Amino acid sequence: MCGIIAGVGEVNLIPTGLEMLKNLEYRGYDSAGIAYFEKGEIFAQKCIGGVDKLKECCAFNIDSNVMIGHTRWATHGKVCLQNAQPIIQNNIALVHNGIFENYKEFAYEFEQNDLTVSDTFCWTKYLVKKLEELAFISEESVLQQFKQLLDNSRGSWAICFLYKYLPNCIFFAKKDSPMVLGLGDRCIWIGSDEYALSQVCRKVYHLENSQYGWVSSKNLRVYDKFGRECDIFWSKICNDLKESKTQNDCIMESEIEEGIDSAIQTLENFDFSYVSKFLKNISPKTKLYISGCGTAHNAGKIAKFWLNKHFPFVEVEYASEFLVNQQNIDSNCICIFVSQSGETADTLKCVNLAKERQAKTLGIVNMENSSIANLVDILILGKSQKEYAVAATKSYMAQLAALYALSSCVDIEKSHLRKVDRLKELLLSLKNITIERIDDVVELIKDRQSIYYLGRGMDYLVALEGALKLKEVSYIHVEAMPAGELKHGSIALIDSDFVSIVLSTQNATKEKMKTCISEIKCRGGKVVVFSPFVDVGQMGDIWVKLIECEDELAPFVLSYPLQRLAYLTAKRKGFNPDKPRNLAKSVTVE
Ligand code: AGP
Repeated sequence: MCGIIAGVGEVNLIPTGLEMLKNLEYRGYDSAGIAYFEKGEIFAQKCIGGVDKLKECCAFNIDSNVMIGHTRWATHGKVCLQNAQPIIQNNIALVHNGIFENYKEFAYEFEQNDLTVSDTFCWTKYLVKKLEELAFISEESVLQQFKQLLDNSRGSWAICFLYKYLPNCIFFAKKDSPMVLGLGDRCIWIGSDEYALSQVCRKVYHLENSQYGWVSSKNLRVYDKFGRECDIFWSKICNDLKESKTQNDCIMESEIEEGIDSAIQTLENFDFSYVSKFLKNISPKTKLYISGCGTAHNAGKIAKFWLNKHFPFVEVEYASEFLVNQQNIDSNCICIFVSQSGETADTLKCVNLAKERQAKTLGIVNMENSSIANLVDILILGKSQKEYAVAATKSYMAQLAALYALSSCVDIEKSHLRKVDRLKELLLSLKNITIERIDDVVELIKDRQSIYYLGRGMDYLVALEGALKLKEVSYIHVEAMPAGELKHGSIALIDSDFVSIVLSTQNATKEKMKTCISEIKCRGGKVVVFSPFVDVGQMGDIWVKLIECEDELAPFVLSYPLQRLAYLTAKRKGFNPDKPRNLAKSVTVE
């Protein structure tokens, strides 16, 4: 997490730098700051909160051709001005994305057990010390000291810093956190992603792991981990990124509406012959692993259901757990990694691990040119374009579409085109549908502390995502549960105040769902039913009526109303669904 922008050039970079930083706010908005040179001195402006607030702090004439900026998502150390970045110490201003895992080795004794101090704050002190050792100051001598300190550090980093005695220069380094260089007009920018650079740069260079260097308005030097100078091959910026985002009051709402199109675009873009070739030599005995975090993991759970028809051995694992339970990963496995951003640290680490074990890797990624997209053996793009709201909505729809198309590729009856055409037809029909009674559900749940989402089979898997969505934007505790489990303990919470949202789209489980509703109703519990079936729907206090479709396609029908429910509940409670508290869009730390 955390977003970094840095720039050096021949013109005033502050206004542009602040705009670029705004584009990185999705990476965190606990605090924000910039540091810059003016008349040979380092100055800084920092605030608690987001970039709009920072802009207010900078609403006076700052004129500088060298700047670094940061937007923070706190991992270590409380949210306060001291930990807000750039960290300013002695003659240094430093921004960091990542974690210095061994930062306590650098901390003073009195700081050892002080959880309020950030890892970056402690680490910067050591950089200060290292630079104080220098007898002779030049770009290269500073860089050597910086590199030595990094060699003794553990963790992940994208770092930029300014040093008072070299006022036209930015030092940088990258390991396991994304960092991109961009060629602008009479300036060079550094950013946490290509998107942040897309409005002002023509070309980009994605730094590789362990690269480091320095840049001034006249020079750019990049070195690899052995200290060898690297050639830089600039590439054109991804055009998709230049499109401006939807200008709606609420981005999450627009993105939910774009979900169906994202799924359709993904199917249109899906290259069946390319994927089929990759899958050609797979036997049903091949072990398939699917991994990702949060919403991406939930999409993977649904894919298991589709893939299991052809592969008896499919495991879906949270990326963080994949790292723990990795004993069985070997060259006989295919590992599928799902990620919207393509930068999630846990997932990225899994890709590296799978590659080390010589497993085949396949990525379902929504961001082209992201770290995961660049690393996997085969890439399937989720065509949702850039997603801005923290809650993943349209990217989930694109992931589902990609995973469905993938599973249809291994269909032994070779009926994949038929299946995908049917999905497209369903998606098109969903575009014109109005879902009624969601407002009534919002009124029923808005003041609850806790509710259940219940379903069986596929409905349970969709419930997992519905629950995550509602939780993260409306701050209601939601537990998604296989409906059959209710009577094994959780039914104890049911009383006349308790609301259960029951999902029932599957013909195969509908009778069982009716029993589940009865069990809740006879204890006085309130029930909301999302279902196409009249006999199930009528049992609920509120029936959100869905269209009927084949069981295996139901997630596409169910997801939209559940996303909308989450969004409307957040709005009704007066929360900003685009920026839920404590969250960030891209989780680039483990
Ligand atoms: C859900 O709304 C979140 N945005 C989150 O769970 C997200 O899906 C997860 O952090 C994984 O991110 P990724 O898809 O970018 O890898």
